[in-house]
Amino acid sequence: MIPRFIFSYQIFLALALLVGQGLALPTGDAHNQDLISLLTKRDTGSKFILMGFSVARNSDSEQPTDPLVSLNGAVSSPIDNKLYHYNIDLEVGSNKQKITVDVDTGSSDFWVVATDATCQKGRKCKAQGTYNASQSNTSKDLNQPFLLGYIDGSTTSGTYYLDDITLPGGITAKQAQFANANTTSSPFAILGIGLKSLEAPILAGGTQTYDNFPWVLKNQGFINKAAYSLFLSSPSAESGTLLFGGIDNAKFEGPLYKLSGAFPSRLGVKLDSIAVDGGVTDSSTGFVFDSGYSYSSWPKATADAIGSALQGSSQSGNSWLADCTQPNKTITLNFGNGAKQIRVPYSSFIAPEQKSTGTCSTTIGYSVDGNYDNLPTFGDDVLRSFYVVYDIEENSLQIAQAVYTSQSDVTAIE
Ligand SMILES: *[C@@H]1O[C@H](CO)[C@@H](O)[C@H](O)[C@H]1NC(C)=O
Ligand SMILES: *[C@@H]1O[C@H](CO)[C@@H](O)[C@H](O)[C@H]1NC(C)=O
Ligand SMILES: *[C@@H]1O[C@H](CO)[C@@H](O)[C@H](O)[C@H]1NC(C)=O
Ligand SMILES: *[C@@H]1O[C@H](CO)[C@@H](O)[C@H](O)[C@H]1NC(C)=O
Repeated sequence: MIPRFIFSYQIFLALALLVGQGLALPTGDAHNQDLISLLTKRDTGSKFILMGFSVARNSDSEQPTDPLVSLNGAVSSPIDNKLYHYNIDLEVGSNKQKITVDVDTGSSDFWVVATDATCQKGRKCKAQGTYNASQSNTSKDLNQPFLLGYIDGSTTSGTYYLDDITLPGGITAKQAQFANANTTSSPFAILGIGLKSLEAPILAGGTQTYDNFPWVLKNQGFINKAAYSLFLSSPSAESGTLLFGGIDNAKFEGPLYKLSGAFPSRLGVKLDSIAVDGGVTDSSTGFVFDSGYSYSSWPKATADAIGSALQGSSQSGNSWLADCTQPNKTITLNFGNGAKQIRVPYSSFIAPEQKSTGTCSTTIGYSVDGNYDNLPTFGDDVLRSFYVVYDIEENSLQIAQAVYTSQSDVTAIE
């Protein structure tokens, strides 16, 4: 019972925020002109919170130290390259303790590292900020234990707290519930924004959920619905956007297509088939949409259809190798019995790890039937091609083909 999530490395600062009913106040390091121009537009009458996040990559990393653990059979080689990582800067408590968190749609708990925490596995878990509850006069210890394991084998434990959380730009969510971790083997804190049914107490066998961060924003009237849009942007982009309570109509083509969630506790929908090079492979299974996962896992037939289509490909144990440079071609993912197609470039599946001249690993892994920890999953490699609106209130997703633009046209989700 482990949320799938792969750790990469820290970096960069997160950026800025735009509040529908308020003012736009870029904070921190906004190196990126695209993001700045994005922040110039807003929809003043409505309720949404638009946050730019910075994208960190291994090549930009100041600490390219920890090799990542491979998934159970999903990727046979160590994943030690070019993982993407979405950072947002938050301020916790009355005295605004600065903490950078990684946004994850694949888990549902928000947790921070305690100032006196023990970092395990030699990881520098405090490099992105820590929380000292006794310095905040708005902190409340709920005296409820928190324990969460991730699929890469790391674990985090601590205690649930309530405290005020200030988002970049100044909106403060009062008395939000999060975990204060006193032991972790993760190198950074996580803002899990998935379904309540995946919260740690439920995974531990409990029955009581709590209002996680998107719900807190809704309860306090900042947004109309516990829903958000995630735009990862192009593989080379330095930033993307997390938009609580809103949809950025400039960032996708065609209409959004709504699908019911395929799982009771994980965010994801059913894929019907894939089209590759004129052939169609039936898939008809649910895929988890997980921004905390860099690669993708597929049923074997689907994975092999993609792998064998890549230029210069060969099978290697549980995965595929292929030429590092691919032709300008796409595969097509079919949803809703042909109602919605999403194109994914061949190049999306190429991992940067070069095996020998001209050959690279691919990001394509195998899922395992019935294995909760290894469900078919779209990670960043595939999700970059999507614009996705996640509704955690009704467990549905709206999807469309992403358009990589700095234009912005935001409307609130009603
Ligand atoms: C709580 O702390 C904040 C800053 O940390 C301070 O401004 C405020 O006066 C304090 N309030 C009380 C009631 O002590
Ligand atoms: C946390 O803050 C309290 C009050 O300022 C201080 O006494 C304590 O030493 C701090 N803990 C750590 C680990 O820094
Ligand atoms: C960490 O928190 C847990 C849960 O509250 C507690 O049992 C444990 O003693 C704490 N460990 C440390 C080192 O503070
Ligand atoms: C790739 O192909 C598409 C459609 O055929 C075309 O619009 C696009 O410009 C091509 N891109 C490159 C980099 O050649």
